[in-house]
Amino acid sequence: PMSSPETPPVTNVTDKYAFAFDIDGVLIRGGRPIPEAIEAMKVLNGKNAYGIKVPYIFVTNGGGKTERERCIQLSKQLGIEASPGQFICGHTPMREMAAKYQTVLVVGGEGEKCRQVAEGYGFKDVVTPGDIIKDNPDTTPFRKLTADEEKNSRALNFGRVKIEAIFVFADSRDWAGDQQIILDLLMSKGGYLGTRSETFNEGPPVFFSHNDVMWSASHDLARLGMGALRLSLEAMYKAVTGMELNTTAFGKPQMGTFQFATRLLQQWRRDTHGIDAPPETVYFVGDTPESDIRGTNEFNKQSENKWYSILVRTGVYQEGTKPKFAPKATVDNALDAVLHGMERET
Ligand code: G3P
Ligand code: MG
Repeated sequence: PMSSPETPPVTNVTDKYAFAFDIDGVLIRGGRPIPEAIEAMKVLNGKNAYGIKVPYIFVTNGGGKTERERCIQLSKQLGIEASPGQFICGHTPMREMAAKYQTVLVVGGEGEKCRQVAEGYGFKDVVTPGDIIKDNPDTTPFRKLTADEEKNSRALNFGRVKIEAIFVFADSRDWAGDQQIILDLLMSKGGYLGTRSETFNEGPPVFFSHNDVMWSASHDLARLGMGALRLSLEAMYKAVTGMELNTTAFGKPQMGTFQFATRLLQQWRRDTHGIDAPPETVYFVGDTPESDIRGTNEFNKQSENKWYSILVRTGVYQEGTKPKFAPKATVDNALDAVLHGMERET
């Protein structure tokens, strides 16, 4: 009933509901697929008693690679064909900032990856901590560039470069060095390294691709994430300048991310399944109450369709504690989450 007269009738894809998945702690842990997640994907793709397929998207706070690269990797891990058209990561919405800022410092991730992602988003002049250390190795007393880093870093004279904004794209590989450089910039006169402001109110703004204090990697217990770096930076800034630091975070639980996900899902359903209307319900499957459940519940209140939060026990959330934000359902893993949603629909 939901497809428009021009589109061919959809026989085996449901137009009533859809799924959205968090990745770390739900589908993947420490680079390895969670076995039940592979099965969950098979069920959505038709291996079920109802003889239907269910559309789905991925909404992760993670990042550090292009959306295309992440999808190739995810496809291999889960035995599916994931497309950038169904994928949002923490830094995806930063794309929209490329028109506003010319010269930006990009922090985090492996090697030159995040510079490439930022350039792909249209940022014109992307500098990294490596470029800054190459120009002045005294910047970070305990960090020396490797031969590769030295080779890949840009040769710039930072005395003449005005950095307009700082973007933390992915987890820092060198907290001490990266924080030193970010602090230097925050305390600078108008984004010029090597200068000190007298008022500490003229440094560039700082954006984080998400705010997860903890995340689920290969260790049994959750690990420190980008939100922890943010807390640390705010505390240091306060200790050094006596002032509060205001920073901005993207990703879940921000409503902007869920609005972005809504548009993506709508387009994905239209382009690949010929469904021309929003789903009645979106099942969001996550492992982090503070990001996934909080965001889904909040968005459910303001969205036209229903967003239904499902918490799994394979990641940050551990059995035995009470989640800070209460999900609609708590299940063991991604497969149970899919079965729960599908059963509710029939
Ligand atoms: O760094 C990634 C992590 O904080 C969260 O990723 O997929 O659980 O949103 P995800
Ligand atoms: Mg997660």
